[in-house]
Amino acid sequence: MNQRSGELLDHFGRPLRDLRISVMDRCNFRCPYCMPEDAPEPDLNFLESPTRLNFSEIIRLTRIFAALGVHKLRITGGEPLLRKNLDELVAGLTALPGINDVALTTNASLLDRHALALKQAGLGRVTVSLDSINPEVFQQMTGHRGSVEQVLAGIDAAQAAGLTPIKINVVVQRGANDHTLLELLEHFRGTKIIVRLIEYMDVGNLNHWKPENTVNSIALVEMISQKWPLKPLDENYHGEVAQRWAYVDGKGEIGLISSVSEPFCGSCTRARLSSDGVLYNCLFATQGLDLRSPMREGISDEDLAEMITESWHMRRDRYSEVRSEASVARSNKVEMYYIGG
Ligand code: GTP
Ligand code: 5AD
Ligand code: SF4
Ligand code: SF4
Repeated sequence: MNQRSGELLDHFGRPLRDLRISVMDRCNFRCPYCMPEDAPEPDLNFLESPTRLNFSEIIRLTRIFAALGVHKLRITGGEPLLRKNLDELVAGLTALPGINDVALTTNASLLDRHALALKQAGLGRVTVSLDSINPEVFQQMTGHRGSVEQVLAGIDAAQAAGLTPIKINVVVQRGANDHTLLELLEHFRGTKIIVRLIEYMDVGNLNHWKPENTVNSIALVEMISQKWPLKPLDENYHGEVAQRWAYVDGKGEIGLISSVSEPFCGSCTRARLSSDGVLYNCLFATQGLDLRSPMREGISDEDLAEMITESWHMRRDRYSEVRSEASVARSNKVEMYYIGG
């Protein structure tokens, strides 16, 4: 049932194609929409090291996911570069049959020292979270950690190493960083770096999200077009999360990610694995499937594949399409730093 031409399909017929692997729940930044700096550390419930999957466990699971149809991986966190010897994991993952796109999402504060080794290990590309290049606003948006210079140095190192195309993820929060967007766009115009403006979402429970803090993508396109006219571009692949726009003057492209105003659950092919080995079929899930315990108790690959298959078959998640006041207020959603962006 729900299997067509070798693809694993969920309840709504969506295939499993992408796996987003969180390798570290901790982070050296404290972005207000993810891990607010005033949240007491015990409330963040960081994992104990031994509960995090080791590299062979992650590679074993990913091999099984690849056999079930996953071909695209995103390594994420928290901050994945806080995980020691990450290049060794990258080498193991990129060598897996069936995997043809491996990207890393990072805040880039440690990227200058790791970019080359990651490239040599087979990493394809990086996506950098950077919400403002205005130093004061950057400080607010990172909970007073790190520096713009360090992040830009990380981006330069990634470019020099060939970890391209580089994308910059900007979470747009009304009244927080939206007044500095043009400055950020100007900085990257004319480079091959693609800035993507993301509608702020109600992920997790710590950020106390309110709809009025999200800036609608349509308003952003209008605002940007007044300075630099834009024209829409076709999607790169079916189900691409970002809507692509090009500067009419040829100075490159940007992306708009409208997960609140224009949800894309209908084409969502993404599964997420937390660093302690729990499988989540949606970013807004309240429950996942523990794969670590059975692995550590000696389960076979066949039985693991069966567990994953069953979980995906039953998947009915489409949170962003059915968001409501009640769902926003639900207090047991997993946090972004735990599950990855
Ligand atoms: P590419 O492979 O480069 O196209 O990456 P991507 O478009 O999947 O982008 P990325 O992984 O950088 O995700 C960018 C942002 O989009 C995330 O940080 C989230 O804010 C949002 N996003 C990505 N995937 C999902 C999803 O499945 N659901 C929702 N609601 N938002 C998502
Ligand atoms: N809404 C939208 N995007 C978010 N991210 C983190 N929290 C949120 C949120 N509440 C994005 C960040 C980062 C990625 C890991 O997730 O931009 O790039
Ligand atoms: Fe860290 Fe990314 Fe969360 Fe910011 S959004 S606190 S960089 S994990
Ligand atoms: Fe996929 Fe859930 Fe995001 Fe919808 S809300 S696109 S189902 S992860």
